[in-house]
Amino acid sequence: MPTREQLIKTLKENKGNWISGESISTGLNVTRAAVWKQIRSLRNDGYLIEASPKKGYCFKACSQRVLPDEIREGLKTRVFGKKEIVHVLETDSTNSLIKEQADRGAPEGTVVLSEGQKKGRGRKGRTWFSPHLENIYLSFLLRPLISLVEAPRLTLLTAVVAAETLRASTGLQVTIKWPNDIYYREKKLAGILTEIRAEIDLVDYVAVGIGINVNTEQFPEKLKNDATSIFLETGKSFSRSDLITDFLNRFEATYFRFLETGFAPVCKKWKTLSNMLGRQVQVDWPAGRCCGEVTDVDNEGALLIKDRKKHIHRITFGDVRLR
Ligand code: BTN
Repeated sequence: MPTREQLIKTLKENKGNWISGESISTGLNVTRAAVWKQIRSLRNDGYLIEASPKKGYCFKACSQRVLPDEIREGLKTRVFGKKEIVHVLETDSTNSLIKEQADRGAPEGTVVLSEGQKKGRGRKGRTWFSPHLENIYLSFLLRPLISLVEAPRLTLLTAVVAAETLRASTGLQVTIKWPNDIYYREKKLAGILTEIRAEIDLVDYVAVGIGINVNTEQFPEKLKNDATSIFLETGKSFSRSDLITDFLNRFEATYFRFLETGFAPVCKKWKTLSNMLGRQVQVDWPAGRCCGEVTDVDNEGALLIKDRKKHIHRITFGDVRLR
């Protein structure tokens, strides 16, 4: 284990108690100067550690940032977050950053995290509200051996994992709105942006970005009727690092099962978690407007809508509004 990780472990084991620099340096088999250097770096990253020339060090609290060390601590994955977790304080968009990584040949499972985004992107050119240190802005890289027509399934799969994570961690009975919006009651809590690079028919990579409104206490006027956060719904602050770890653990298990056994189990879960089957909807898409009842989601992740004349429309793209 690298010194930094060992040091964090030692400090956490002694949380609230003083521990001398000498005993840390002996335990970690490094010099006291090396210990001090690492302590300074941890403090720079937002860890609360007191230092006293006589007493040594006292660990008070973890950093509020989503630091790779904190995420890794709870990971039970083989691939996701195991090779590289890129963490930045700010970026235009974590999806743009993961695509840069992908173009440089980064492997499947590479993760990008940011504390804020200057140009957070939503679906269809929309922007994504991305204030500093409040919410989750996470992107990761997939390199599945699947055809282009199968790729939309990954969007639905991500929505299933996000909904399961949020239900388990927060107790909120969130639902999925097709294809991949996570709602609590009538307000949006999380969104997913999937971007694909493919050659002819075979997928080269999929960049999956997820934004979860975790601790935002107030949304701008133009969003506040449509958006919500875990904090606003539960009255409690949540650890973003714990949510990310839980999400990645669940994602890896679901994703590898999907690659091995196919889409049917994911699709079944999607239907259970969705609030759409049997509902009347209105869809605006390039071919015009379509109104009717949602009857199913097919094996490619398309929404099936029955209109008043009982014609079935297969929707693969567009904005769906519940009526
Ligand atoms: C949507 O609902 O329209 C999708 C929103 C996706 C937002 C996330 S935040 C992390 C990643 N980086 C981005 O720029 N967008 C996604």
